[in-house]
Amino acid sequence: MSSTSTSSTVITNIATLVTNDPSLGDRSPLGLIQDAAVVIDGDRIAWTGETSKAPATDNRVDAGGRAVLPGFVDSHSHLVFAGDRTQEFNARMSGRAYSAGGIRTTVAATRAASDGELEANLTRYLDEALRQGTTTFETKSGYGLTVADESRALRIAAAHTDEVTYLGAHIVSPDYADDPAAYVSLVTGEMLNACAPHARWIDVFCEKGAFDGDQARAILTAGRAKGLHPRIHANQLSYGPGVQLAVELDAASADHCTHLTDADVDALASGATVATLLPGAEFSTRAQWPDARRLLDAGVTVALSTDCNPGSSFTSSVPFCIALAVRDMGMTPDEAVWAATAGGAAALRRDDVGRVAVGARADLVLLDAPSHVHLAYRPGVPLVRGVWRRGARVV
Ligand code: NIG
Ligand code: FE
Repeated sequence: MSSTSTSSTVITNIATLVTNDPSLGDRSPLGLIQDAAVVIDGDRIAWTGETSKAPATDNRVDAGGRAVLPGFVDSHSHLVFAGDRTQEFNARMSGRAYSAGGIRTTVAATRAASDGELEANLTRYLDEALRQGTTTFETKSGYGLTVADESRALRIAAAHTDEVTYLGAHIVSPDYADDPAAYVSLVTGEMLNACAPHARWIDVFCEKGAFDGDQARAILTAGRAKGLHPRIHANQLSYGPGVQLAVELDAASADHCTHLTDADVDALASGATVATLLPGAEFSTRAQWPDARRLLDAGVTVALSTDCNPGSSFTSSVPFCIALAVRDMGMTPDEAVWAATAGGAAALRRDDVGRVAVGARADLVLLDAPSHVHLAYRPGVPLVRGVWRRGARVV
């Protein structure tokens, strides 16, 4: 099996293959196939099934009785930044509370950094994530908060991923501390015009100390008029209007969802907005865990992501987030693995990633374990042994 210009590879002897296609294998949401094989042709999946039925290919890789799953889809990170907030973390672990204000420290460091420094930092964390199995990354601006600094953050991000989010509305810029309305005008006007060409998404931190519901609606509506699709940092630190606004605006995702009323859960269950849970943030701020079980039982689509950023969640590890979600948020290992793959894809409104199906992108993770359950069963262990991205072995 080979097209003229690309080569084909079969990965055989896979103890457990997670396809996320419920019409395959055990017919569960993960579509688990035992003793499986996968054929990669060029940058796409060309075949899945049992090893004994695999077609001939140019190359062959023996998985040695290990598990293979789709590459992780990390749909929420903040990786264009400079500086470090070790002291803030240390203070929190001595009892101080997290607040949105710490973002200002990173804004100052990011503005002072050169383009080269920001890009080197970004690629360092993208490589770190790739080695842990993440093959699709979303990342945001939000540490510049001037027209020039936000647009350069997005330009740098867009050189490394298609999933780029304009977050000029992370906090009110310190330069506009006395006139938040003027900052909202900037974010919805000149800054939006400069940023929209580099981004697919627009986000807002809808929270006390950041932006209220009316400001968030104005910002997301302006972004939509410029062709950006909404997503929202919603209900992270307190109850608020973010989740219901996300559903009202058909945002792809409401992110955090830590403090939810029954009406918030009902809204998510009735709409197409994914609830993206970010347990690294609750871990690193010693906050209450989001209740994934409540969302899943209500029929909400749940994604899991890292929120990797220097303030509230300085982890690039999706496996770590899976382990936390299973241990502390009421998810089963199957649900957590689905949420970190197919769930992330849903939060980015993508169907070419997050599943191992014919025609999908050949983004695969080989674990040094016989099943995906080990991601939660063996927390903190570097289980990722191989990664293919767009058909090329990169780890
Ligand atoms: O998703 N909530 C807002 N933004 C980030 C935190 C950013 C920071 O503290 O630097 C988050 O947790
Ligand atoms: Fe975030």
